[in-house]
Amino acid sequence: MSDSPPQETPFTRHTDIRVPIICGPMYPCSNPELVAAASEAGGIGIIQPVAMTFVHGHDFREGIRLIKRLTDRPIGMNALIEKSSRKYHDRMVEWVSIALDEGVRFFITSLGNPRWVVERVKAYDGIVYHDVTERKWALKGLDGGVDGLIAVNNRAGGHAGALSHLQLLDELGDLGVPLICAGGIGNEQQFAEAISQGYAGCQLGTRFIATEECNAAMPYKQAILDADERDIVLSNRITGVPVSIIKTPYIEKIGTKAGAFARWMMKGNRTKHWMRMFYTLRSAFQLRQSSLDEKGETEFWQAGKSVAGIHQIEPVAAIIGRYEAILRGGINNEATARKSV
Ligand SMILES: Cc1cc2nc3c(=O)[nH]c(=O)nc-3n(C[C@H](O)[C@H](O)[C@H](O)COP(=O)(O)O)c2cc1C
Repeated sequence: MSDSPPQETPFTRHTDIRVPIICGPMYPCSNPELVAAASEAGGIGIIQPVAMTFVHGHDFREGIRLIKRLTDRPIGMNALIEKSSRKYHDRMVEWVSIALDEGVRFFITSLGNPRWVVERVKAYDGIVYHDVTERKWALKGLDGGVDGLIAVNNRAGGHAGALSHLQLLDELGDLGVPLICAGGIGNEQQFAEAISQGYAGCQLGTRFIATEECNAAMPYKQAILDADERDIVLSNRITGVPVSIIKTPYIEKIGTKAGAFARWMMKGNRTKHWMRMFYTLRSAFQLRQSSLDEKGETEFWQAGKSVAGIHQIEPVAAIIGRYEAILRGGINNEATARKSV
């Protein structure tokens, strides 16, 4: 593959990468080898610090150094900036400092006011993109000084938005910063389409779980291959806000709605924070366990509607190579045709 970018976008210029693809941060699935493989293949891998430390057992700085031994290409970090706990915030501040110290220059902020991250990152001439699901949050992010927006749509894995990728283009297209399409990209045709519609890049999560470099257990990967988009449901029992998961017998048994007590707690201003803290801690343990359980006993797996385009477990480079090729002038691989729409 040539070293020249198949198609330059404001995002590839911001990040100095060849292919406008982000391997999105994923708790619990972002192991260092996956992050490195995405960057090495020409996209950019994003470190999810809680996954790196709590799930995959690396000291944060050592984990970054491991990635840097596997690739010398740019990598990014996800700063989850919700201030529900002082201790968690202090830890995030420390992680951002370590990442900057280790040469990370691209950051994706999620869930809160990105200003403090922007201030630190700009001191190193770095770039910050902010996750948004609607215009209101985009304006807040831009007020905080971010350089680009990750437009999380209603097909995304993890915390899904409410709008389609085209509605988000309409809502955010006039804001004058690069937009990344996050959600629903499961094959190279969908990727090429999003770029031709005006997105500066795409962020993929689910696609990269079904790869050789992802450490997720085989039953999780197989469930992604087996699912079509009707098997993806939203649950607010996980973090208190809708999260996309695969409807397995286990999920059918426990249901997808928060219980009456949790709903009542989520209504109060103060109790809402306690409830979210409880949810976050509980789901952190559950998701870690289910993602690593090779017996597949707890079928509790996050994934987005992009499962429809995912048919095999592949090396990351094969996926990014195909996506790059289509931008360079087109392939039409029948194996990537959608399973169902
Ligand atoms: C298992 C899983 C975990 C995720 N965890 C995070 C996370 O910790 N932080 C974040 O900003 N986004 C998270 N996401 C969202 C992804 O980074 C990405 O935006 C999303 O997966 C795109 O949709 P797709 O799965 O259809 O490709 C997660 C997604 C998945 C599937």
